[in-house]
This record gives sequence, C-alpha cells and structure tokens, in this order.
Amino acid sequence: MANKIIFPDNFVWGTATASYQIEGAWNKHGKGESTWDRFTHTPGKIKNNDTGDIADDHYRLWKKDIALMKKLGLKAYRFSISWPRVLPAGRGKVNQKGLDFYSNLVDGLLKAGITPFITLNHWDLPQKLEDEGGWAVRSTAEAFAQYADVLSRTLGDRVKNWITHNEPAVVAWMGYGTGQHAPGLTDFSISLPVAHHLLLSHGWAVPVIRGNSSNAEVGITLNIPWAVAASNSRADLNSVRADEGRWFRWFADPVYGRGYPSDITLDFDKMGALPNGMNFVQSGDLDVIATPTDFVGLNYYSRHVHRAETPNNDPQIVFPKPQNPEHWTEMGWEIEPDGLVGILCRVYFNYQPRKVYITENGASYSTPPDAKGNVPDIHRVNYLRTHFAAAHRALQAGVPLAGYFVWSLLDNFEWSHGYSQRFGIVYVDYETQKRYVKDSAKWYKGVIKKNGF
Ligand code: FCB
Repeated sequence: MANKIIFPDNFVWGTATASYQIEGAWNKHGKGESTWDRFTHTPGKIKNNDTGDIADDHYRLWKKDIALMKKLGLKAYRFSISWPRVLPAGRGKVNQKGLDFYSNLVDGLLKAGITPFITLNHWDLPQKLEDEGGWAVRSTAEAFAQYADVLSRTLGDRVKNWITHNEPAVVAWMGYGTGQHAPGLTDFSISLPVAHHLLLSHGWAVPVIRGNSSNAEVGITLNIPWAVAASNSRADLNSVRADEGRWFRWFADPVYGRGYPSDITLDFDKMGALPNGMNFVQSGDLDVIATPTDFVGLNYYSRHVHRAETPNNDPQIVFPKPQNPEHWTEMGWEIEPDGLVGILCRVYFNYQPRKVYITENGASYSTPPDAKGNVPDIHRVNYLRTHFAAAHRALQAGVPLAGYFVWSLLDNFEWSHGYSQRFGIVYVDYETQKRYVKDSAKWYKGVIKKNGF
C-alpha cells in the first residue's frame, strides 16, 4: 500500500449535479419551458427519446437527497439553478415557487452542514429567450445579468460560492455548432457570437453577484481534457493545438485578459465561421470578460489522443490502451489520472487563477444493485482513488486546489445519451426512484472523514 495521502485542512469534498439532469418537474409550479425541454421533446434527438421530464424526481425528493448527502459526510454540493423555473420568460416576472424551491434547498443544505456551490447556467436556457435568438444575441447576455441579480439578491446572504457558466464551450460548439445538444443548431458562424455572449454575460454577472453577496467568491467552470499528440508529426501536433485552442483557450484566454487566441481566430476564419469577422465583439467587451474572478472550476474526465487523419500525413504512432473497464469508462472515455496533474499544472502555471476547484470528475459504469442492494462499482472506486491521488500530486506541485466535486451525486439524465450512462455514486432505479448507495460512495465517505486515504 502506498503512503498515506492527506489533503489540506478545509479541503472541500463535494458532489455535483445539474438542474435538468436531476430535477424533473419540467412543467410544475409555474416553471417555464427550457431549451432542453424542447430538445428532448423533439423525437430522434436523444438516445431512446429519453427526456428529463421526471429524471431523478429531485424536485420532490430533495429533502431525502440532502439526508443522503449528510449521511455520506459531504462538505459541499454543487448544483445548478433552472433559469426558467425562476424566470419562466427568461427575464421580468419571477416565479416565486421556483425561487422558493432553491431557497429551501439552500436552507436544507446549510442545516445539514453542507456548503452550497451554485451554478447559474448548466445549459437549460429559457426557451422564450431561445425564441428571441438565444445566446446568439446580446440581449440574452443582458437577461443573464438580470437573472444573476435575482438569484444573488435572494440567496446571496446564504450562498457564497457562485459559478456563472458550466462549460460554455459545450453550449457554443455542441448546442449551436454540431447540434448534439439543445438548441440543436448546426452553424458555426452562430457558435462564435454564442461563445462571446456567454463570456460577456459571465463578465457582467461577476460584479452583480459580488454586489449582492458580501464576501462571495465567483468563478466560471471550463471543461478541459488532457490533449496529447499521438506522434510528433506536424499534423498530430497541429490537431492538439487546434482542438485544445478551440475548446479551452478560446474561453480561458479572454477570461484571463488575453483576448481571443489569434491562431484559433484564423482557424475559424478558414472554416468560414467568421463571415463578418469578429463584429459581435463591441468595444469594452474584452475588459468586461476579463473581470477578475476568485477561482476557476475545471471539469476533467479523460485523455484525448490526437491522431490527425489527413491524406498526406506524416507517419504516426499510437499506443492504445486495451479497451477494458480499467482503462475506458462506458462513455468510451479513456482514463488517464496523470492527465489531471497535467491540466491542473498547465492551467495554474499558465493563467495563475487565485484558486482552482475540480468542479466535475467521475466515471460512467452501469453496475446494478445486487440482491442485497449493494452496488459493487469497483471500477469507479479505482477511478476516484487514482484521480484523487493525482489531484494531491498537483497540490504538492503548488496548484492552489481548494476542492473536488465528484460527478455525480446521483445517476441522472446524461444529455444526448439519455439514461444509458450512469455517473452517480448513488444508483437510481428510475422506475421506483429508489436510491442505492454504491460502494464508491461508501469509499468516498471514508476519504472525506479521514481527509485522505
Ligand atoms: C460534463 C457536464 C455534466 C455531465 C458530465 C458527464 O460535460 O458538465 O453535466 O454530463 O459531462
């Protein structure tokens, strides 16, 4: 057995979820329609035509879910607000029942000794705003600042940790570019203003939240795989540059005051995605986007090996790992704990965020409950153990990592994959809504208790 790994005092151990993936109650108590409601109700968009209409029924079962978190000893809980539950039309009239739901949830968490971390946008935009142009138009960014105001004014006395957006790259590129996510548009020339308005709305929201919530810490969550080239061929190296540039630097660079990366602007231009140049960027926008934040949240899952498939490519070498559950999760995502050390060091030493949180990390395995109701999800335990150890190595290298949120508390609606992928440390029987604590959750409980393993 390796030496003991002990984390710093006050290290924040949590789990994460998102409103659309767990709440259900999609049209209850005055909630407005979201883009994800519209998208999942469109046949053919989601595996098995699954929807989040019921999901984990968390809107009804939230008290039980808090009790479960308390039992596991969780210190923090990252959840998102359904924007149309609070503002059915996206702006203007508040749906008091929706706001009360989150207010009660926050009170329940605090009573259980669990620190709430709120994500304002984990993708479920009010459909009403989408009908007016969605993130492609600047007025949606203005509406987001109003929404941030409503939420932080109501909850800011009790909630001190705020994340504006979750993975804006996924919204921009997959929601409006490739169309696998809501609203399902397929036009990269729309994705570019979308990305800009997401970032702009982030910059506008930061001071609004701070104004309403004294001593609040505000950040943004970005997704970042560990991207490596399969060989030193020019094509493979270029593929890494382009891909991580589009998915990560395009967002991190402006947030850290560097503006948009010029190599990627050139790539977009070559793709024909900038027919009118960067005319959606108005003067002063980049200063707004660069408003200093208190932390960056990183979602890390996997390594991406880049092997460019161009006709005249240089020779390439790839050493694939065997495709078994120790190396690949059921999402088909390659497991690489060292990549977590890599991304943490790279982001910290390159951008110098004040603080970093792993806002998501976890694995999809479908292990069901056995006859006794135990869920022996040994591969998930291994995944978490090796990634926690990697996080600890990054801490030793000087990265100011303040906390870790396992994705996810519960099995839930996994976007285009519907219910076919199970990321929870708690199993959910969708027929009965019964929860079964998996072995990974029991193991995690011990880690939290000892602040290490
Ligand atoms: C991330 C999302 C999260 C979840 C995980 C598996 O990209 O933020 O909602 O779906 O992937």
